[in-house]
Amino acid sequence: MDVAVSAAVCHPFPKSNALSNKSSIIRPKRLCFTKVPVVYRNASSGGRVGSIRAQVITEAPTKVEKVSKKMEEGVITNKFRPKDPYVGKCLLNTKITGDDAPGETWHMVFSTEGELPYKEGQSIGIIADGVDKNGKPHKLRLYSIASSALGDFGDSKTVSLCVKRLVYTNEQGEIVKGVCSNFLCDLKPGADVKITGPVGKEMLMPKDPNATVIMLATGTGIAPFRGFLWKMFFEKHKDYKFNGLAWLFLGVPTSSSLLYKEEFEKMKEKNPDKFRLDFAVSREQTNEKGEKMYIQTRMAQYAEELWELLKKDTTFVYMCGLKGMEKGIDDIMVSLAAKDGIDWTEYKRSLKKAGQWNVEVY
Ligand SMILES: Cc1cc2nc3c(=O)[nH]c(=O)nc-3n(C[C@H](O)[C@H](O)[C@H](O)COP(=O)(O)OP(=O)(O)OC[C@H]3O[C@@H](n4cnc5c(N)ncnc54)[C@H](O)[C@@H]3O)c2cc1C
Ligand SMILES: NC(=O)c1ccc[n+]([C@@H]2O[C@H](COP(=O)([O-])OP(=O)(O)OC[C@H]3O[C@@H](n4cnc5c(N)ncnc54)[C@H](OP(=O)(O)O)[C@@H]3O)[C@@H](O)[C@H]2O)c1
Repeated sequence: MDVAVSAAVCHPFPKSNALSNKSSIIRPKRLCFTKVPVVYRNASSGGRVGSIRAQVITEAPTKVEKVSKKMEEGVITNKFRPKDPYVGKCLLNTKITGDDAPGETWHMVFSTEGELPYKEGQSIGIIADGVDKNGKPHKLRLYSIASSALGDFGDSKTVSLCVKRLVYTNEQGEIVKGVCSNFLCDLKPGADVKITGPVGKEMLMPKDPNATVIMLATGTGIAPFRGFLWKMFFEKHKDYKFNGLAWLFLGVPTSSSLLYKEEFEKMKEKNPDKFRLDFAVSREQTNEKGEKMYIQTRMAQYAEELWELLKKDTTFVYMCGLKGMEKGIDDIMVSLAAKDGIDWTEYKRSLKKAGQWNVEVY
């Protein structure tokens, strides 16, 4: 199958003229039958989990090839390792939070010359310049890629990040600056940047262009979803036209820290039937009980609807950002599932197995 990609239709950043025609060959899958446990979810019985055993007698080999529901074909990992990183150039670096926001978040674009092919939802490693307190080169830090595979300029020759500058006061009352986030937020256009990876398969997009994709982000956890949403709504692909429902929940502290708001609003304006957008602004909004508006508080307002969607085999949930959000979201799911007599832990396990519940929190 040829994968040819044509022009991105809408770019908030200046676009280069060159648009690549990528092509890749996908080998036919070899089907293997063997003795396998099959776990199924029966939506008609409220999504309960059951299991059957299919026994097919075969000769060796016994390896089972799992057919993933996610876009895993041709995914490259670890092309560049810390000992020999790719050296890209910073092309653009801009603060995307308001001056009164608590903390700074920057959007940055690095050149890759097409040498660092990645998929939406992967991450890269960055090695900050300089040495640590032992005189050794800094260890890499991971960052979720914030661009689609085509990149912000539509030519598959760049990779973008969304980085929060880490600054905190330690127990001695000293102000400490995080090594890599400060290195990145301070990068000037033209500067070199050492990149490793790409890594990660957890957050790859679903293959099904008709899927319901529920994206749950806190702060810079928005990064992978910007990539998803550009591919869905800002780009034209020969082999992918999104026709499902994308639903983004984004939690941030203040309205001045709503990341990529204008882009998302433009997507919604152009695709009102395919894109739902809900913000949870924790320090400015509350629910009817006066509780702080966290992402799970906003989700709770659509609880029944979300639960109905979760019973479908074509719904994929992705969660990215602060570690604390995972428990908060689990808590609302436990009570929703219980109403249908379903054990959430067990149900979530089956969703995970099917690639429909994907979590990358830190
Ligand atoms: C898969 C993955 C993807 C990620 N994606 C992103 C992303 O897209 N954007 C992003 O901004 N970050 C992302 N991160 C986080 C990123 O990797 C770094 O951890 C972050 O930028 C901080 O690194 P640093 O070098 O600036 O801080 P460091 O110099 O490594 O300092 C961090 C350390 O400081 C200490 N510390 C931090 N805060 C406090 C505090 N309040 N009080 C006391 N001690 C404290 C902790 O010991 C912490 O480990 C991701 C992490 C992972 C694992
Ligand atoms: N792939 C990954 O694993 C990945 C990718 C990107 C980012 N990250 C991580 O995600 C984090 C994002 O931090 P940030 O500084 O960018 O975010 P931020 O701007 O501080 O926003 C985080 C939002 O989440 C709220 N929040 C705090 N505790 C919460 C909880 N228990 N449940 C739900 N919401 C909660 C915050 O509210 P209040 O502050 O008002 O309490 C705030 O509104 C970082 O730790 C980063 O390392 C991970």
